[in-house]
Amino acid sequence: MEKPFKIQVESLSVRYGARIALDSVSLDIPERSITALIGPSGCGKSTFLRSINRMNELIENCRVEGQVRLDGIDIYHPQVDPIEIRKRVGMVFQRSTCFATSIFENVVFGLRLRGERSRDVLEAACEEALRKTALWDEVKDRLRAPAQGLSGGQQQRLCIARALAVRPEVLLLDEPTSALDPIATSRIEEVIRELASECTIVWVTHSMQQAKRMSDQVAFFHMGKLVEAGKTQEIFESPKHELTLNYLRGVFG
Ligand SMILES: Nc1ncnc2c1ncn2[C@@H]1O[C@H](COP(=O)(O)OP(=O)(O)O)[C@@H](O)[C@H]1O
Ligand SMILES: [Mg+2]
Repeated sequence: MEKPFKIQVESLSVRYGARIALDSVSLDIPERSITALIGPSGCGKSTFLRSINRMNELIENCRVEGQVRLDGIDIYHPQVDPIEIRKRVGMVFQRSTCFATSIFENVVFGLRLRGERSRDVLEAACEEALRKTALWDEVKDRLRAPAQGLSGGQQQRLCIARALAVRPEVLLLDEPTSALDPIATSRIEEVIRELASECTIVWVTHSMQQAKRMSDQVAFFHMGKLVEAGKTQEIFESPKHELTLNYLRGVFG
């Protein structure tokens, strides 16, 4: 059976000043699945991600038109609080920065922001998030140590743990492995594959191999337009558009 849609994007256009970055994009994203966003640099992938949790409106001059529905509710409706949306839709960037505090404080940051004070609740949430990111065994004896002492791959998993600690329903990942070596990358891939059983994942990746291995659905963007989207195997085996075919063959990129 097909999964229901967690996110439905309809006729989404985004402008920075007069310049159009996304041009009437429509895409449905099934729940508890991995959708990979691919396309050449500047085609609008990050803009698309930021539209799903209303991060774009933190950028001056950015204007969003069209609809993004989360569980059927238009997230841009005037009565919807963007803070609530960002709680439900977490985001991790290419080089997410760990805060200059302990490992523990990094993980529970979002919970503290919400006013959670109970030591027990914070500790349990920290352990759970670190287990989900396969970090627990690596750091459980030094939770009070500075996060910045961790390796690049561990820091990236810590940032994912920080996003997970508030139990988001959707996780947006913007090239989370592009600065990592292959071993650290495969660690993150394992973690994300696990997470897809409970969370809807939208993942920007530069790596065709990663998109192919990891995703259920692929969406290919080019110059602000969604050229095509579909089941991963279908896109890789029989893309409908020449632009997609050329991109997958590495003609441009
Ligand atoms: N903060 C911004 N201000 C102005 N223009 C932006 C901003 N962010 C992105 N853009 C422009 O929007 C277009 C899409 O960018 P982006 O979404 O970052 O693409 P991608 O993530 O695919 O590389 C590009 O032309 C880029 O220059
Ligand atoms: Mg980007």
